[in-house]
Amino acid sequence: MNADPSYARAIWISIEGAGAMKRNSLTRATAVLLSAAAAAGAQAGDEAPRAYVEQARGVAKEFATELKGELKAALEEGGASQAIGVCSETAPAIGARLSAESGWAVGRTALQVRNPRNAPDSRERAVMMAFQQRHAAGEGLKGMESAGIVEEGSQRYVYYMKPIPTQKPCLTCHGGDVKESIERAIAERYPADAATGFEEGEMRGAFTFIKPLSDR
Ligand code: HEC
Repeated sequence: MNADPSYARAIWISIEGAGAMKRNSLTRATAVLLSAAAAAGAQAGDEAPRAYVEQARGVAKEFATELKGELKAALEEGGASQAIGVCSETAPAIGARLSAESGWAVGRTALQVRNPRNAPDSRERAVMMAFQQRHAAGEGLKGMESAGIVEEGSQRYVYYMKPIPTQKPCLTCHGGDVKESIERAIAERYPADAATGFEEGEMRGAFTFIKPLSDR
């Protein structure tokens, strides 16, 4: 697994529009602060204003519901090979639309990614490691979230992350026993795929959002 942060930066900029948010420098400046916050198990509401967190929750819910609907329809209609298109094209498209509508830069990431563009930066990685620790200690993934504030120069941003659990239909393409035809279709598009071998109930990845904090 080679998580080149430049891929993450590329997708971020494509979501945000040309460099509206200098994500990588933001990450570097705040990595230490954030890994400390993540290690302490930063909970929503610790730092991020409640209104932002509530907004982010709504967007995350919309994203999850739409994705699930599209995936289900595609699996029923055309089987897994059609559904691969949903995951690779529809997910980023829904993300881009929700970003434009909500002002949050909306994305998906994971500790083991299929598409290197979804690779986490150090802040996202630290938050997901903390999610996994909380999960291992018995906390359910449902309802788990993390939010906080990061600074970049004079601009402050609110981030929000929420785990994405592995559900039964996900196993078709992310499980330990993926059919050979699907495996081939995935390998064609994603030669560096690291997103198989998951079990139902495990954390598959996370939604990751960020938005400038307005001081008003
Ligand atoms: C039909 C195959 C298929 C199914 C079913 C599927 N996925 Fe995916 N998944 C993919 C593909 C292809 C990608 C790469 C998308 C991209 O290029 O951004 C992906 C990417 C992801 C990512 C982004 C991180 C990464 O690895 O690149 C997450 C998170 C994810 N899937 C979660 C899920 C969950 C949760 C489910 C079940 C609800 C699911 N997937 C079902 C094929 C599938």
